[in-house]
Amino acid sequence: NAPVLTIDGPSGSGKGTISRRVAQRLGWHYLDSGALYRAVGVAAGWADLDLDDHGALVRCTFDTRIGFRDDAAGELRVLVNDVDATDELRTETAGAAASAIAAIPEIRAALKDRQRAFRQPPGLVADGRDMGTVIFPDAPFKVFMTASADERAQRRYKQLNDKGVSVTLDGLLREILARDARDAQRAVAPLRPADDAVHIDTTGLSIEDVVEQVLALVPR
Ligand code: CDP
Repeated sequence: NAPVLTIDGPSGSGKGTISRRVAQRLGWHYLDSGALYRAVGVAAGWADLDLDDHGALVRCTFDTRIGFRDDAAGELRVLVNDVDATDELRTETAGAAASAIAAIPEIRAALKDRQRAFRQPPGLVADGRDMGTVIFPDAPFKVFMTASADERAQRRYKQLNDKGVSVTLDGLLREILARDARDAQRAVAPLRPADDAVHIDTTGLSIEDVVEQVLALVPR
């Protein structure tokens, strides 16, 4: 079984950026599990499905092809039914749809095997909410990443602004807090640290500092 490093935490904690860089440094595979939930959310939007129609959403999950590839700049692109949906996936609308969909147990179950299939030699860095608790409970390396709510909103604001998406910091902070609350309070796979996770608070830390802290956990 290939080794897995799980990195879980709330939105904007830095886990996406850190996970990708750590995977590059280790030469390991990378799983962006949130992208799977976002992809189903976007596919459901394209099909005009009602977010309350769980049966239709579950069927949509089985029917949606989700692919990942690196573009020339080394950025991860996400294909939903063979269409590049990377930019649409990053919006807070897609995040909110993902969070609603992620609370449906049948959908979490349907995505389990697709996530575990990423565990390939020489290793996997898995980024999400339940990587260390549900998907890879036997992972030898686990991180739970946090940051203050203000800093998380500011990072997401900058990320979206750089991509040309117009948002207000205040609105974003409210949306992120609402999504975090739902993720933490849902009945199935609520966001919580695994008992054996190392906690890293990234508030005020540079990306490089955090990357080094995480790499120090993996003996080489
Ligand atoms: O980048 P950010 O942390 O904002 O979001 P994400 O990781 O792309 O996840 C989007 C949403 O998908 C989260 O708010 C969760 O509700 C859900 N999710 C989940 O339930 N389990 C995962 N392993 C990953 C994401």
